[in-house]
Amino acid sequence: MDLKGRDFLKLLDYTPEEIEYLVDLAATLKAKKKAGELVDVLKGKNVALIFEKTSTRTRCSFEVAAHDLGMGTTYLEPASSQIGKKESIADTARVLSGMFEGIEYRGFGQEIVEELAKQASVPVWNGLTNEFHPTQMLADLLTIKEVFGRTKGIKVVYMGDARYNMANSWMVTCAKMGMHITLCSNKKYFPDPELVKTCEEIAAQTGGSVTLTEDVMEGTKNQDVVYTDVWVSMGEPDSAWVERIDDLTPYKVTKAVMDNAGKDAVFMHCLPAYHDLKTQIGKEKGEQFGFEDLEVTDEVFESAQSVVFQEAENRMHTIKAVMAATMGAEF
Ligand code: CP
Ligand code: NVA
Repeated sequence: MDLKGRDFLKLLDYTPEEIEYLVDLAATLKAKKKAGELVDVLKGKNVALIFEKTSTRTRCSFEVAAHDLGMGTTYLEPASSQIGKKESIADTARVLSGMFEGIEYRGFGQEIVEELAKQASVPVWNGLTNEFHPTQMLADLLTIKEVFGRTKGIKVVYMGDARYNMANSWMVTCAKMGMHITLCSNKKYFPDPELVKTCEEIAAQTGGSVTLTEDVMEGTKNQDVVYTDVWVSMGEPDSAWVERIDDLTPYKVTKAVMDNAGKDAVFMHCLPAYHDLKTQIGKEKGEQFGFEDLEVTDEVFESAQSVVFQEAENRMHTIKAVMAATMGAEF
């Protein structure tokens, strides 16, 4: 499998075999890390990490993975770079291509990262846009493979805001990998019909399926994975909370939902999560609306069925695989 020089912008651009290869490479790199085996085969190279939105997992994963591969990193936050304000994406891409061997970008519209990739002469990796979060999906696939021993045929229900980056990405991933996705939400939050159609066409080839439902008990019945995400994403206005809480509270992941999914089902969440009132926003919204939690109860989040921290660790191993493969690392 030769992915050298490829961008990693969305899973729609990758074949099932390529996706599987990246997940398996991540598993190999994870085993090497656990065994204390060095993989610093990209010594002398450098990567730029552009974050126009905040991050804990994605930034740390790129930094640790790059260091493990022997590379240097430069972190660019919105306030400390010229991007978009004094310098276009096209100019930035060409400047950074002269200094770095790879560029990560987290920001707003997917078209921005696509433009960056078009203009850059080095691989560009999408660290999250409004539309897609492809590195998260590789970590989720690795976690599912670790838990269930396979990805093909696995049933995933996604609860909550089904028209944003995580739900879109899940739909594409399940379609590509022959998995079954149910998006369970208020129909106001159903995804773009064009993307649904594309995913249904792909799923028809792979044996996967795409189902949309507003019915919680029907949607969560006998599922392998129950997945959710925050109800208001980065970059959305604070004013969105009132409506989201109203519309999406029925789609909160509770013990009743997990019981309905089955005793062998796991709970997953890309994180960060509002499962208690121990965060500034969680506390503010919880007190304002009279809740103890938002998209998932603390009981589920802390239960034995929750694999969220295994999932979070896998961000690093999978991001390492993406950089290694697209930069042509040989182990
Ligand atoms: N899941 C995820 O992307 O987390 P961060 O926003 O912390 O990077
Ligand atoms: N939908 C969330 C995902 C965070 C990883 C957001 O875009 O903020």
